Amino acid sequence: MTKKRAIDVQNLEIETLGPPKIDSPLLGSSLKGRDSEESIDWDAFFDDGHRILMDASLDSFERYKEQGAVPSSFEQAGARRKIYFDPSKVRAGILTAGGLCPGLNDVIRSLVMTLFYRYGVQNILGIRYGYQGLIPSFGHSLVQLTPSSVAEIHQFGGTILGSSRGNQSIEELVDSLERTNMNILFCIGGDGTLRGAHAIAGEIKQRNLKISVVGIPKTIDNDISMVSRSFGFETAVAKATEVIRSAHTESQGAPFGVGLVKLMGRDSGFIAATAALARGDANFVLIPEVNFDIDGPGALLVKLYERLKARGHAVIVVAEGAGQKFFLDEQVVKDASGNTLNKDIGQFLADKIKQYFQKLGQDLNLKYIDPSYIIRSAPANSSDQVFCSFLGQKAAHAAMAGKTDLLIGQWNDHFVHVPIAMAIAKRKKVDPMGELWSSVLERTGQPSLIAGK
Ligand code: F6P
Repeated sequence: MTKKRAIDVQNLEIETLGPPKIDSPLLGSSLKGRDSEESIDWDAFFDDGHRILMDASLDSFERYKEQGAVPSSFEQAGARRKIYFDPSKVRAGILTAGGLCPGLNDVIRSLVMTLFYRYGVQNILGIRYGYQGLIPSFGHSLVQLTPSSVAEIHQFGGTILGSSRGNQSIEELVDSLERTNMNILFCIGGDGTLRGAHAIAGEIKQRNLKISVVGIPKTIDNDISMVSRSFGFETAVAKATEVIRSAHTESQGAPFGVGLVKLMGRDSGFIAATAALARGDANFVLIPEVNFDIDGPGALLVKLYERLKARGHAVIVVAEGAGQKFFLDEQVVKDASGNTLNKDIGQFLADKIKQYFQKLGQDLNLKYIDPSYIIRSAPANSSDQVFCSFLGQKAAHAAMAGKTDLLIGQWNDHFVHVPIAMAIAKRKKVDPMGELWSSVLERTGQPSLIAGK
């Protein structure tokens, strides 16, 4: 008898500051429709009843039905007919926090353009260097953002607002929002930033304030739960793909040539796996989610030697978070956000490989490439630019409708509202049994790399 899989019922309701009672200025905009006879009920307005199923498979739908449960679904993101905030009274703040990521400026630009042109919001403030910018002792002043000040920023990588890591006092942050009369806060950042945003929303609720907090998930690592794609990821993969191509070229240029590439990805191997798939040149892909051994029969060094004897060259792609089990004796060091800093698996592997071939008395040409920050400091590519533009628009619509403690995610090809608490509950990881990883294994022909297997 086949075992029934459990159904996954989640609370994906979105908090609001109160009932939206004001007609959206978008109702009267030029977007009104092509035919003046046509009703204003144009497709791009959504109401909270528009929902996107969390699990879109028919099989799962049937299981919900069988067990009498309502399938979990996300509220669809987009413009509402009624909004909560009077645009003339809005003071919106935007901050970017955590590591850099392609597309930060595109999101800032999209937020400013949507708030200003679609809603007529005049007061849009840039908060410098992440959460630090709200804490008086850092002395970072707020900057007024206007369509003309952001007009060209999407041409550049990085963030015009600057960023920082590290936690600040939640009480002080909310004090600052009160003092500066901000009623909307956009937090563009990864896991740590979103945790901060959630805590701020909690403190705002405690104080019974009417301030909306909207997160926009950012990370090249693509490791945020409940978000199928985070902006910047595609650009980083495209950059990483170029690096793998170089490693492949170098490996072919000399006898027993090995191109070893280390790619960012602190806890998840999405960049390494996806870039390796894109190129198809990698023979070994090592990610944090999949265990591997270096020494012993069946492990990396032996398999690498076999590959080199058979084909003369090889490419290894390693995610920075892979193989951390080899450093258990070393002291744990954390960054300002509390993330454990990974030990340098790339250099470690390079040394191990060199030593192994030296012992064998076999000449080796190893080229180790660590593109490091190069893959994330680039401007967004066109696909990410389009994506960022949507994210900024949807975030502005959500905030103006008085929604709070949410982030804008993409799920089943739709933009949705995700409660921040759900997204930060755990990190998204490459599923070793899932499609992405099995496709990598198919493409590389990589064996298990566990010694003795
Ligand atoms: O999370 C994005 C990321 O680029 C990781 O891949 C990397 O480990 C980390 O940030 C590095 O961040 P920083 O050196 O800026 O603190």
